[in-house]
This record gives sequence, structure tokens and C-alpha cells, in this order.
Amino acid sequence: MSTLIANGTIVTADLTYKADVLIEDGQIIGIGHGLKGDTVLDATGCYVMPGGIDPHTHLEMPFMGTYSADDFDSGTRAALAGGTTMVVDFALPSPGQGLLDALQMWDNKSTRAHCDYSFHMAVTWWGEQVFDEMKAVTERGINTFKHFMAYKGALMVNDDELFASFRRCADLGAIPMVHAENGDVVAELSARLLAEGNTGPEAHAYSRPPQVEGEATNRAIMIADMAGVPLYVVHTSCEDSHEAIRRARMAGKRVWGEPLIQHLTLDEGEYFNADWDHAARRVMSPPFRDKRHQDSLWAGLSSGSLSVVATDHCAFTTAQKRFGVGNFTQIPNGTGGLEDRLPMLWTAGVNTGRITMNEFVAVTSTNIAKILNIYPRKGAVLVGADADLVVWDPAAEKVITAASQQSAIDYNVFEGKTVKGLPRFTLSRGHVAVTEGRMSSAEGHGKFVARPPKGPVSQALSAWKELTAPRPVQRSGIPASGV
Ligand code: URP
Ligand code: ZN
Ligand code: ZN
Ligand code: ZN
Repeated sequence: MSTLIANGTIVTADLTYKADVLIEDGQIIGIGHGLKGDTVLDATGCYVMPGGIDPHTHLEMPFMGTYSADDFDSGTRAALAGGTTMVVDFALPSPGQGLLDALQMWDNKSTRAHCDYSFHMAVTWWGEQVFDEMKAVTERGINTFKHFMAYKGALMVNDDELFASFRRCADLGAIPMVHAENGDVVAELSARLLAEGNTGPEAHAYSRPPQVEGEATNRAIMIADMAGVPLYVVHTSCEDSHEAIRRARMAGKRVWGEPLIQHLTLDEGEYFNADWDHAARRVMSPPFRDKRHQDSLWAGLSSGSLSVVATDHCAFTTAQKRFGVGNFTQIPNGTGGLEDRLPMLWTAGVNTGRITMNEFVAVTSTNIAKILNIYPRKGAVLVGADADLVVWDPAAEKVITAASQQSAIDYNVFEGKTVKGLPRFTLSRGHVAVTEGRMSSAEGHGKFVARPPKGPVSQALSAWKELTAPRPVQRSGIPASGV
């Protein structure tokens, strides 16, 4: 059975042109005119684009004494409803737990996925077992390792551990990722705020100023350079961090920055002019910033210094957020966004002229497919690529509400916002999963996507070669028979 997407305009990261797309057995088998299919999807007035890839989700993740509320069922339904056809989730070993053990947990959970998925592996502690198992993890097709420079006393790793793990990534041809916030300073500021009686959710923002992110981003970039490895910086939220990334890229280093749709469209006012629940529902790390930082992130997307827009979808219910009443450090950190990333970015980015349609495809799909080494199987509209596609209706509008969302939580941080630009159809490997908001996705349809390592990447300006080059040894002056 073949499917023809007819009368649409194909939009990719570099081209816009009118053509039909023919699909069979989950793949694109033809692009052109005069093609015939058993089923026809009418794309009149629509753009046919690669489905979104969200490289940053936390589904059913044990975190801060609870589990994030969306699992691989509700989370991937939310993804498809919003035009995202692949998610990359973080397998998270608790400190002391083996990486392969954690991977088994994520394998078990992900059997419910409605769309394709992959994993990153988190390095939350360091030891011989982690060193050894990193190789086995890459052999499973997972070539990205995430490090938390924040969450002191829980997931945070120190600089010696970062350097050791980054070196291991270099050997394996894998890419290290960082959550870049200075966890020591955050812990100190949090303790001081609490001692002064600042217990509410707004203190979460006070405890994580842009400087803690800028410092950690700079540090991670320098450690990666000394280790001779590229670096992916997750949830870049401010100019301080963006500036470090921009400077590294200008110097020829492979460093990628990932702003989130939440930081691009919501600001710190959400914490200050609001009741406790409203503010706590928006507690995430890094926190929302002021307009100056938002402008910096938008400039990064249009100029190319920032590469990927993600969600860091880590959703908690209001009841879970209330664990932190009386102590903001106990509010589970995280927000949702999987269903809203594409419509919000289209509305706030393409409709306003801040980014082009082609840039939209680049930052929601193609760039990350290339970074993760799954292009052109994903992130492309090409013959032979997986038919993970979104037929995008730029005239369709809706008001975002929690009542109509796929996510399992009881609110939406974008509640009440009007978006213009929505999926008419979302296809997951050729299967029509969504038609104008009506779900026909199938639990278990999603398959794991293995990502082969790229092999050692030579850093243009890597300090590693210099650090390890043979050095002259100064022997004169050493007494012949000791002191
Ligand atoms: O607040 C956040 N971002 N929660 C999810 C875990 C993480 O730091 O990415
Ligand atoms: Zn993080
Ligand atoms: Zn995250
Ligand atoms: Zn199917």
C-alpha cells in the first residue's frame, strides 16, 4: 500500500519547491509530479517538511524524589500531535548504577513509544565501570553522553570527572553534552536565599543567575577543547552562555548550543507576577530569563550560532510541584513543551519574520539529525529517507489549552496562547498518526534508532595535541646521587 502526499510545497533546510511525495513501506520512494498512490493525502496550501526531532526529553524519569509525569505513551503522542516524529530521551543511571543497567530500564519503558526514538546516556558518576560500559553503550548505537554540572549532591559531576569522561568520548568518537550551570554556586545561593526566608518559586530564578550558566559553559568548552572533543550544550538560555558558544565557534571549535522553545517565548515575569502554582509550574533549570536574553537566543538562531530548538520536556503535575511548598529547592525542576514546540516556534519565529521556513526546518529537525549522525534517514525529504513527515498548514489556528493536550499533566505553560501554523497530517514512518488534531497513532509503533559513532573528530584548534605533544625535559642541575 502506497501513500501519496499531493499538491503540497516541500520545505527542507535548504530548498522550497512544489512536488508530491510517494511513500511505501515507511520510506519515501518518489518525489515529483504525476506520481500515483493507493491513498492520497491532500496537502493543498500546506508545506511538506521533515518531522520534528526533539533531542531533549525526560520521559518517566526518576528525578527529585518523583517521576516525570509523561511516559513514552503520552510523551510520544504529544510529540506527534505537534508534528514531532522522533524524540531522544536521556537514560539516567542513578549515581553508582551501571550504564547498561539504566539502559535496560529505558529499553523497557520505551516499548510504548508511538514515534521513533533514541537515547543519550547520562554520566552521573565516574569509575572504572562507567569507563568500560561507555564503549558497550556506543556499540548499542548511543554516541552522546550527557553531564550535569549542576544538581550538586545528586547528579553533578566535578571537573576531573568531566575531563575523564570527555577524553573517553574522544576515544570512542562520541559527543559529550553538558547541562552547564555552576552547581557549587547554585547550592550556595540557594542556601543563602532559604536562610533569608526566600522560600517561594521566584527564589529558584534568583538562585540561578545567567552568570552561573555563562561560567559553566565557558568551563565545559575549555575542558572539551583540552580533551580534543566537540561539545553539545543543552538548554542554552542566556547571552552569557550563547556568547561563550559563539566565541568557540568563531575560533573553529565544534560547539553546538540548544535553546528551548520555553526560553525563546516565556520570560522571567512568569515567576514574579504570579501566584505560587503558576510560578512553580514554570520552575525549570535554567530558569526563564529577561527579554535581553531572549533577543540573544533569537539572534543565535537566525545567524547560525545556535543550532537546535528543543523542549527539555520534563513534565510534573501541580501536585508534584507542590512538594516544594515552603522550600523552592524541593520543587521538581522541569516543564513540558513537546506538543507545542513546532507551533510556538512557527508562530513566534516564522510568522514574525525572525527566522525563515528553511531555518525552521534546520533548527527543529535537520541540524540535529546531522549532529546525531542519523541524516538523511531522519531530518530529510529525500528518496530513501524514512517517511517521518509533517504536512504543515500555515493557516490553521488554535488556542493552546491543557484541556486539549496529549500530555498527562494538568496545565500547560503556554496556556491561552494562540498559535497559527499546525500539522494537517503527521506521519511516523509512513503511518498517518495525526489528522488535524485527531490521533491515529499506535502504541509500540515507534522503534529505537541506533546512531553510529562518527569516529574521532579532529578539533580544528584542539589544545589536546599540544597538551600531549612530547616535551623537552630539563635534566641539568639534578644532583647525581640524590640530595
Ligand atoms: O529543569 C529541568 N531542566 N529539568 C529536567 C532535567 C534537566 O536539567 O534537564
Ligand atoms: Zn538540564
Ligand atoms: Zn533536560
Ligand atoms: Zn504503523
